[in-house]
Amino acid sequence: MMWFLLCTLVLITMVSASSKPHIILIVADDLGWNDVSMNGANQIPTPNIDALAFSGVLLRRHYVLPTCTPSRTALLTGLYPIRTGMQGYPLKAGEPRGLPLDVPLLPQRLKELGYTTRLVGKWHLGCMKSKYTPTQRGFDSHFGYLNGYIGYFDHCVEQKLENRTQVFYGHDFWRDLEPAWEEDCKYATSVFTEEAQRIIRDHDKATPLFLYVAHLAVHAGIYNRMEVPSEEQARNRFSYITDPQRQLYAEMVKTLDDSVGDIITSLKESAMLNNSIIVFLSDNGGMTEGLHANKGSNWPYRGIKFTLFEGGVHGVAAVWSPLLKDRRRVMSQLMHITDWFPTLYHAAGGDPTMLWGLDGVDQWEQLLADKGNSSRQEMLLNIDEHQNNSAYIYDHWKLVQGSYEGGEFEKFLGDSGRDDSYPTYSAINVVQAASRLGLDYELNEATVLRLRNEMAVNCTMREDTLGTPPCADYCLFDLRTDPCETRNVADNNPDVVQMLQARLRYFNEQLVPQLNKPVDNRSDPANFNNTWMPWLDNV
Ligand SMILES: *[C@@H]1O[C@H](CO)[C@@H](O)[C@H](O)[C@H]1NC(C)=O
Ligand SMILES: *[C@@H]1O[C@H](CO)[C@@H](O)[C@H](O)[C@H]1NC(C)=O
Ligand SMILES: *[C@@H]1O[C@H](CO)[C@@H](O)[C@H](O)[C@H]1NC(C)=O
Ligand SMILES: *[C@@H]1O[C@H](CO)[C@@H](O)[C@H](O)[C@H]1NC(C)=O
Ligand SMILES: *[C@@H]1O[C@H](CO)[C@@H](O)[C@H](O)[C@H]1NC(C)=O
Ligand SMILES: *[C@@H]1O[C@H](CO)[C@@H](O)[C@H](O)[C@H]1NC(C)=O
Ligand SMILES: *[C@@H]1O[C@H](CO)[C@@H](O)[C@H](O)[C@H]1NC(C)=O
Repeated sequence: MMWFLLCTLVLITMVSASSKPHIILIVADDLGWNDVSMNGANQIPTPNIDALAFSGVLLRRHYVLPTCTPSRTALLTGLYPIRTGMQGYPLKAGEPRGLPLDVPLLPQRLKELGYTTRLVGKWHLGCMKSKYTPTQRGFDSHFGYLNGYIGYFDHCVEQKLENRTQVFYGHDFWRDLEPAWEEDCKYATSVFTEEAQRIIRDHDKATPLFLYVAHLAVHAGIYNRMEVPSEEQARNRFSYITDPQRQLYAEMVKTLDDSVGDIITSLKESAMLNNSIIVFLSDNGGMTEGLHANKGSNWPYRGIKFTLFEGGVHGVAAVWSPLLKDRRRVMSQLMHITDWFPTLYHAAGGDPTMLWGLDGVDQWEQLLADKGNSSRQEMLLNIDEHQNNSAYIYDHWKLVQGSYEGGEFEKFLGDSGRDDSYPTYSAINVVQAASRLGLDYELNEATVLRLRNEMAVNCTMREDTLGTPPCADYCLFDLRTDPCETRNVADNNPDVVQMLQARLRYFNEQLVPQLNKPVDNRSDPANFNNTWMPWLDNV
């Protein structure tokens, strides 16, 4: 009897494991709102990303953290980064800290549900000791880099030491914890794409796959260079863009778009696409100016990466799956990057109510079909107690307190991507891509244009609001009537301000002080055959 029960149990587990959807999570780095053509600009055509979005669900109010480490923390923990001390400045190479080890990560949870878990690309959640690295945090394998960025060709990163002129420089490219020298000098976006394709091709179809592709694209490369496979090709293709740096950026975006197409093609060829969930998102806004500027654009949103204005935190996002019953639509309900943890856990057959204590909200039902009401009423955008800034959204109200670096990056900085001389938007290319990739054989041009129009952000930007001063104290915005944060309406709504401030105080009381530390000079790659190794394993 016991034996029979056991067999049945094993059988049930096996059947349900093999029918669980494959989850492909593609994250772009520093990609701006206005840098994909699905959001309304004709400047950089992204037919593959658009095809995915228009034949799936476009997320019109998807929020992220304003920089890499906090955003990736939120994505993989389902927690606001203030819970783990990860809310501050992104991890520097050689900085002796990491995402606390007692927090379970999404890949660990998916492994419990029978998934094979793979990371290709960027980690950026700590590597001072091996136990902080991906393969000891729930990933069966990692191929990529551990720090915030690398050169697209040399796969190296440099780090300045605080208060010193000294610079550390070394190779940061790994297959699990072995240096991956053999891939040297190949363009990173292509290397990661090929690895993702190889993983898909070789995958044992009997087990569900969680593949997290965390691209280097479209972060600036080493020495803030905009590195592309061929500069000449970039100049020719995007000759109509006047800013020469943005021409190169556009080519990086194009290569990213090709990657998305190639990954989907591999899923189709491996007969996995019809049981896949593909999520595409950017970790934060584009970095139009400043350190590691990539000339990305968040237009018409105000601000860039690092800021809590929409340009920094209102991210590009879309999801596609044949499991979604109501596709080819725009979802306008609030969604936060922490929501993917319970949402994907649910999609993978887990019971999200067992994941107590998360800040993320399960949005799976909402993605399957429009539920009308929002699953989420509010969200903390972040509290950075070193910058003294914070922001919080309740429904259509947004409170921003303090500013980032005196507000220099809180203006309207990005390229509008609108010019009559640009090529017209090719909805037919998108329709053809959707069909070629096997995403949707019935998408038509009219639907593409209708949804694209729904995604357009309509702002009344008067000249006199463009230089809006920073919110050194605080600002209240009504995002419903003013999505571009041009009018501070705090004075007219003191009760709303009070309520939102009370919520910020509530979150502030729970804040774990940020763990940021100066770069540890023991990490110097010169000590480790010129690699950025975990340097404290034997200390
Ligand atoms: C760098 O200098 C600042 C200001 O002088 C000081 O507060 C900080 O502790 C220094 N950092 C290190 C790592 O010495
Ligand atoms: C997906 O397609 C493959 C090959 O055509 C087929 O064997 C499989 O049953 C399909 N899966 C789903 C969930 O439709
Ligand atoms: C939607 O929200 C309103 C107001 O909060 C509530 O009265 C209503 O019951 C909700 N409807 C659903 C379907 O949840
Ligand atoms: C933040 O506030 C503290 C205390 O008021 C102050 O010491 C610090 O200089 C402020 N930091 C910034 C970046 O404004
Ligand atoms: C933006 O404006 C266009 C043109 O007036 C309109 O069709 C579209 O619905 C508007 N979008 C939103 C989200 O309000
Ligand atoms: C490394 O940093 C420590 C302080 O953090 C300092 O005492 C030491 O002199 C530094 N070593 C070198 C070689 O710079
Ligand atoms: C040291 O680095 C070089 C590449 O610069 C590599 O060829 C060599 O195998 C490495 N040595 C060890 C012991 O890992």
